[in-house]
Amino acid sequence: MDPVSRFYSGPGGLVAAIGSALDASGADRSALRPADLAPVDEFHIRGRSATLEIVEALAVDAGSQVVDLGSGLGGPARTVAEVVGCTVTGVDLTPEFCEVATALSDWTGMSDLTRFHVGDATATHLPDAAADAALTIHVAMNIADKEALYAEAFRVVRPGGRFVVYDVLQGEGGEVRYPVPWAHDTSTSFLATPQEMRALLPAAGFEVVSETDSSDESLRWFQELRARSQQQGPPPVTFATFLGDSFAQMAANQVTNLAERRIRTVMFACVRPS
Ligand SMILES: C[S@@+](CC[C@H](N)C(=O)[O-])C[C@H]1O[C@@H](n2cnc3c(N)ncnc32)[C@H](O)[C@@H]1O
Repeated sequence: MDPVSRFYSGPGGLVAAIGSALDASGADRSALRPADLAPVDEFHIRGRSATLEIVEALAVDAGSQVVDLGSGLGGPARTVAEVVGCTVTGVDLTPEFCEVATALSDWTGMSDLTRFHVGDATATHLPDAAADAALTIHVAMNIADKEALYAEAFRVVRPGGRFVVYDVLQGEGGEVRYPVPWAHDTSTSFLATPQEMRALLPAAGFEVVSETDSSDESLRWFQELRARSQQQGPPPVTFATFLGDSFAQMAANQVTNLAERRIRTVMFACVRPS
């Protein structure tokens, strides 16, 4: 198995583990909405609120076809599809995450608008220029060949369509403290700097429409997450459901990484010129 997929894959049985945790909390599985699953399936810093910003930046409507590169457990795809009414195709390297994404869409009544395929975001086999827009959230940190990732995004988006990247970037404060929620160490972690992103995206053919640094909000988000968890206990399902006991250390390191400016969270909204 690819070392990146190995990092994300647990002992197996993730669909059942999420289902049991929800049942134990008393949640009515037949009435679940995508937002109810956000603590586990919006697997990126600032969770669903960041995805809602991306929805705006995608500039799509109900008839649109959207591609999510590195779709994880499918939370962002369901949020985009639910808010806009469009169709979202997710591609992810980790087979178990695609299985969970498909099950969670079923449980939340989102199967008609979302579908998930196992695949590599740098070579998706999706058709040329068939998507009205594409997004990728917290995935490029695991991909060394960023030229291939952004070339693939350019290939699948139609001329005039948007591509929105929201990623963790290397900050000016020094080396990242590991483990983090995407890697145990540098062997599967490849962070670009903001300067590198400003060159990579145009080199792939995109015009960058906006760049938004949310690092201060990201630090507050982690601090609030920890405070809420200490006061009220964690929600029934969280990233710890698949990252295990190491998640507490990873979250603590993220507070340090953000506070010491070792990482930045930045969204780039781009357009493929017509
Ligand atoms: C931190 S998670 C983010 C998931 C999702 N984008 C979200 O925000 O909820 C990173 C995801 O990237 C996927 N990934 C990493 N490298 C990939 C690649 N080369 N192609 C496709 N997916 C990849 C992993 O399997 C994992 O699901």
